[in-house]
Amino acid sequence: MTTTSCCATDAQPDRDERAAPARGPRQALPMTGHTLGSRSAQTCHFRCADACLSPMPSTSTAPRFADLAERAIGRRALLGGLGAAVVVGAALAPRDAQAAGRSRAVTAASAPGAFAPAGAMAGFAPVGPIAADVDDLVVPQGWEWHSIIAWGDAVERDAPAFDLDAQTPEAQAKQFGYNCDFLTVVPLGRGGNRALLVANHEYTNENIMYPGYTDDASLTVEQRMTSMAAHGMSVVEVRRDGVGAPWRVVPGRYGRRLTASGTPFRLTGPVAGSDLVKTSEDPTGTAVIGTLNNCAGGTTPWGTVLSGEENFQGYFKNSDRLDARNGVYGISNTGRGWELGQARFDTASEPNEVNRFGWIVELNPYDPFSTPRKHTAMGRFRHEGADASIAPDGRVVCYMGDDQADQHLYKFVSRDRVGQRPRQGREYDVLEHGDLYTARFAVEGDPSSTYDGTGEWVPLTRGGRSAVPGMSLEEVLTFTRTAAAAVGATPMDRPEDVERNPVTGRVYMACTNSSRRPAPGAANPRALNRYGHVVELTEDGDQTATTFTWSLPVVCGDPDDPSTYFSGLPASEVMPIACPDNVAFDSYGGLWVSTDGQPGSLQLNDALHHVTTDGPDRGKVTTFLTVPVGAETCGPVVDAVEGSVMVCVQHPGEVDGASIDNQVSRFPYDGMVRTPRPGVVQALKRR
Ligand code: FEO
Ligand code: CA
Ligand code: CA
Repeated sequence: MTTTSCCATDAQPDRDERAAPARGPRQALPMTGHTLGSRSAQTCHFRCADACLSPMPSTSTAPRFADLAERAIGRRALLGGLGAAVVVGAALAPRDAQAAGRSRAVTAASAPGAFAPAGAMAGFAPVGPIAADVDDLVVPQGWEWHSIIAWGDAVERDAPAFDLDAQTPEAQAKQFGYNCDFLTVVPLGRGGNRALLVANHEYTNENIMYPGYTDDASLTVEQRMTSMAAHGMSVVEVRRDGVGAPWRVVPGRYGRRLTASGTPFRLTGPVAGSDLVKTSEDPTGTAVIGTLNNCAGGTTPWGTVLSGEENFQGYFKNSDRLDARNGVYGISNTGRGWELGQARFDTASEPNEVNRFGWIVELNPYDPFSTPRKHTAMGRFRHEGADASIAPDGRVVCYMGDDQADQHLYKFVSRDRVGQRPRQGREYDVLEHGDLYTARFAVEGDPSSTYDGTGEWVPLTRGGRSAVPGMSLEEVLTFTRTAAAAVGATPMDRPEDVERNPVTGRVYMACTNSSRRPAPGAANPRALNRYGHVVELTEDGDQTATTFTWSLPVVCGDPDDPSTYFSGLPASEVMPIACPDNVAFDSYGGLWVSTDGQPGSLQLNDALHHVTTDGPDRGKVTTFLTVPVGAETCGPVVDAVEGSVMVCVQHPGEVDGASIDNQVSRFPYDGMVRTPRPGVVQALKRR
């Protein structure tokens, strides 16, 4: 069985010529009965409750971004290529120059040649491509990798040893959770050799977690509750012996698990206390138990961690008591059966419980007794993540994507201000109130411009009031998709991670793919955006601006296949890339893009790529690392000064037909258990 969405779409012919040479002892296990080359049905089932079968296209009447992008790509085709035409800094158009004039960083950083891999990353030997059935994690020559922590390892000091055959909710609630996605590392104390590693745990793959699993009906209540405890977040205390030495886990007083099943959260902002979020267990509408489907995130300038509650629609039992306004989120019955352990997941018992998920979470990892928050002022949708930065006037700005086909891009601008150097580990209330905007894109008519189009940020809330006619403030923030559609937000190609380059101020958004199939033509060269693209936004001023220009620095695909790829750079200089998911920057401003869907679209393992954003090599893609069969690459943390790259290896071995006794991966190859274990790895440059 294949499916029609979940990043990768239709299967393509096998391309054995892409198969990687043998790389060490870890070759693919027998693949009997497995369907590679397409995103597995099980991915859709466990990750998002088959959301692809319930598309929720926005009712916005604005042109789809896919159409704007195709026009932009077509125009670039006529001009001779994306790379040649969009060299920022080489020839600034008036509007570019206006924006750059307000930011010394943009001008300085746009010198030709800037943003190739820099520092310790300079000149790394590219990896791969690696075929999609290879069970190995591959790093460049001259680098080595090790596992820092994986599913079931101790996070809290009194965690029991992992026992695959007898996992309990109580044990799991102290151990590292499943399917880690976002990752950040914040320093602890002085000296640089202690840190807190914070990771999200997005979802669970019951079929390869539990002995005896045959289908969802076979799960015991204990197993279902164990899965609840495997969701959430982890704060992991790590130490090392000095710069260049590997990080290792030392469970200490900061070690903390946050789960879907038992961790209290405080609702903040305009929706807190509203009737929309009151339940029989919480008549105040301010205290929520748990967080779930935490995908990407961000680190605030004050050292707290933001986490996006993404596919919250896949955890509740439906009923006719469900508020019809939740229809825009596609709340779907699932086989998870969490309501069998906690009745609040049955909408017949608690119709408002679902309104208490789908928010941005803020956690202070420095205080293990702090109550994490859910910020309602930042809107409710399938939050991918949130990137926070401080504007020159002290307001905090967060960029956020809503990851579903034809949903929207958002920006939050705080009401209150913080200093330019806020104290680390202190909790600020600055994300509790502010204005929420959504993006409306237009394509540029002038073919000589150095950008592809313009855009505006349309307010949904302003000054503590609704900016959407006919909707109250609480409704705008709880049913944000409806509000965005009402003001004509642009439907995007699955906006995932969005992050601001701290060096240039430009903003980068990964759009994983589009399932629409337009007619190809001279001005419309891509028959289907199954490979995705990265969108670059340049605000007309600082990050509080209400207008911007945009461009496409990366149009993904296979450089050897002109029907899929349109970078404009020679194929020999570019490596295949598809389904961009997470974006991150190193301290030199270098852009790193991790992928989720290359197995289905390119028949290659997912990867971490470096992308050059400026100069004549703008759009150049170089692969640094690939993850094992079935996995996606998540949460990159790149230290280009020290030569350290950390990633989360999410859902290794997730292929159709896999089971506890029929695995295709043994990641992280420590022989500990007979099933792959999602986890965090660190690649270090050999000294
Ligand atoms: Fe959890 Fe949108 O990826
Ligand atoms: Ca993602
Ligand atoms: Ca992902």
